[in-house]
Amino acid sequence: MTILETGTIAAGSLLTVASLTVEEVAAILAATDRLERMAAAERARILEGRRIALLFYESSTRTRTSFELAAKSLGAMTTLVSDKSSSIEKGESLKDTGLTLRALGAECIVLRHANSGAPYLLAKMTGLPVLNAGDGMHEHPSQALLDLRTMLVRLPGMGGRLVNAKTLEGVTVVITGDILHSRVARSNAMLLPRLGARVVLCGPKELLPEDASGLGAGVEIERDFDKALKQAGSRGKAVVMMLRIQRERLAGLELDLGEYISRYQLDEERLMARAPEALVMHPGPMIRGLEIAGEVADGPNSAIEDQVRHGLGVRMALLVRALGAGGFESVTV
Ligand code: CP
Repeated sequence: MTILETGTIAAGSLLTVASLTVEEVAAILAATDRLERMAAAERARILEGRRIALLFYESSTRTRTSFELAAKSLGAMTTLVSDKSSSIEKGESLKDTGLTLRALGAECIVLRHANSGAPYLLAKMTGLPVLNAGDGMHEHPSQALLDLRTMLVRLPGMGGRLVNAKTLEGVTVVITGDILHSRVARSNAMLLPRLGARVVLCGPKELLPEDASGLGAGVEIERDFDKALKQAGSRGKAVVMMLRIQRERLAGLELDLGEYISRYQLDEERLMARAPEALVMHPGPMIRGLEIAGEVADGPNSAIEDQVRHGLGVRMALLVRALGAGGFESVTV
């Protein structure tokens, strides 16, 4: 097969936010906007009869469901292959699973995998467009795009703003918690500064290494959450993005949860005292009472359900982009 010999990454793949130009980010969000406002019947013709495989080696609620609903809203057929109920359990490799899906007519694969770089390998091995739905501790590009869309919709004065290198000037995004294991933090820290945001990473040494240079230019570290919140709250627009402690990836790392909660939990008192106007975000799943208090998650500053809703639109745009679909441009103008 020519595709396998050349190992080309298919156009329309999204493996990392680093591969997107600011213009491409703008085009994806413009398509999102257009698709969200389109009549359902018109939308359902865009990918009518196309085949999309959802290949999930790790559990997921939001990403899996929103990619599936997005594909179906566009008229595509989907099939879900999960590591827990497929021949992956019998030892079938990623390559053979991908080739099997391709032989069955899949035209695009949405992949979540515990290993960083697995989407890249799958794209090389199948020649199909691959959308990274989260790979290990590496990246979660569609999450960063939906987070950006949520900020543009929810932050005051942002409505209708064009996406360019200055769009998020004056916005401070404090990302707090388990940065070390977070692909969401990594994708956001790579994307948001390119649009002008100041990104502050916050967490204890165990969960946030000293050297954050790999996370991109324009990223700072502040270990004191109260200080980070206060600074963000007093300098223009503030976003506080809370992250879950990923117990499944801690691998023996000892963490005093009581101390963690007292230093890093976002509760109402802390938020109201330091950044009362801040937009509160969380990629989910959240553990109420650990990194975030229930009253904040459900409170007026919270954009957590908006993030989930925007996931649907952003993922529709990414699927249209991945499959060409008679001109991605036609839904971006
Ligand atoms: N945000 C996110 O990736 O959530 P899921 O693990 O539920 O997909």
